[in-house]
Amino acid sequence: MQTNSRLSGTISVPGDKSISHRSIILGALSNGTTKITNFLRSADCISTMGVFRNLGVQIDDTPAEITVHGVGIKGLQAPKVDLDMGNSGTSTRLISGVLAGQPFVSRVMGDASLSKRPMKRIITPLSEMGSEIDAVENHLPMTIHGTQLHGIQYEMPVASAQVKSAIILAALQADGDTTIIEPVKSRDHTENMLERFSPDSIEKHDHQIVIHPHHELAGQAVHVPGDISSAAFFLVAAAIVPGSEVTIQNVGINPTRTGILNVLKRAGASITETNRTTGVEASADLAVKATELKPFTVTGHEIPGLVDEVPLLALLAARANGVSKITGAEELRFKESDRISVIVTEFKKLGIAIEELPDGFIIDGSKPWHLNDAKLNSHKDHRIAMTLKIASLLVDQPVTIKDFDSIKISYPTFNDDLAKLRS
Ligand code: S3P
Repeated sequence: MQTNSRLSGTISVPGDKSISHRSIILGALSNGTTKITNFLRSADCISTMGVFRNLGVQIDDTPAEITVHGVGIKGLQAPKVDLDMGNSGTSTRLISGVLAGQPFVSRVMGDASLSKRPMKRIITPLSEMGSEIDAVENHLPMTIHGTQLHGIQYEMPVASAQVKSAIILAALQADGDTTIIEPVKSRDHTENMLERFSPDSIEKHDHQIVIHPHHELAGQAVHVPGDISSAAFFLVAAAIVPGSEVTIQNVGINPTRTGILNVLKRAGASITETNRTTGVEASADLAVKATELKPFTVTGHEIPGLVDEVPLLALLAARANGVSKITGAEELRFKESDRISVIVTEFKKLGIAIEELPDGFIIDGSKPWHLNDAKLNSHKDHRIAMTLKIASLLVDQPVTIKDFDSIKISYPTFNDDLAKLRS
């Protein structure tokens, strides 16, 4: 372990990425203004802002708040340029749902990583609703021929909040009701926000959502809670670095996102929740203390609730005293990198006993680590970069992480927060 790796103190993490994207999107489609506080100014959310500006929406950005001057569902303008989604899967999939119902053609593109990610998952339902989408082998760049959409009943083959949200946003513009059925409940921020912006547009049941079109959206004030997926780096760090004791304030604890907390508790981590606020998106202060950790298993039904935290759970497993198994996580192969393969490659450099499965890993945390290769690689994936940085706190020799600046995608101030907890 590096000297002075112990983490202690209290921080707040930046705003939730998923909620920040949605506040811009629903704000733009509303009548009236939407004021957003604690908005996440990361590269992905800035991509979403840029796209809406190119669709004719005025968005003011001051240090205190973001103001979106909504134009209404029918008020977007045809873009004069290609819509650049950068690295952002959430921007691409959600905004494609919006564009599918507009009376113009848009061309959507992104960076090299985004251009490898699967788009068939949105092309299928949006085409069923009547949209015509051209995409070579279902990858970006994609041309969306917006049209009058029809309501559908859609049973989703994979639990994905991005796909669900794309269909919801398309369905708001359809000529009839749309029913969406999810195999396992994924994050429900779009539904929660829509209930506030346009209560008559949505009916929520357990695994089923019904969208009623033709209701206007009204601009709202949105306060974005801290991102649990960013807090997770320090929750896991505090659990695994001996002697640590960390509190993270105002973390969003929407139950569709808190899978990481359940697994930490199962692994025996000392975790307490205080100052809970209720409301549309609940938040709380979370405190973690380092303790001995037990091995654990995670299976498919839990994955949607912790999908972005799986690299960190692999790290937790690598410090738990026994064999842990994570399965049902095949969706990780389609993220900013193939996170299953990349975690196995990079963890082996740290001498972690990890075995790759088609849909996850087996990790024996009882075996000591031994550094095989100090040149770690983020594979330009923000969550891998930060997971490796946390892992490096437990390595007693210096390591480098290639393309570490990919953290700007979701957590540009990660290094500052880490430094605060190490000082
Ligand atoms: C997100 C949904 C998840 C998640 C991504 C953000 C969202 O993707 O991995 O980081 O904001 O809807 P899937 O819905 O594709 O699983």
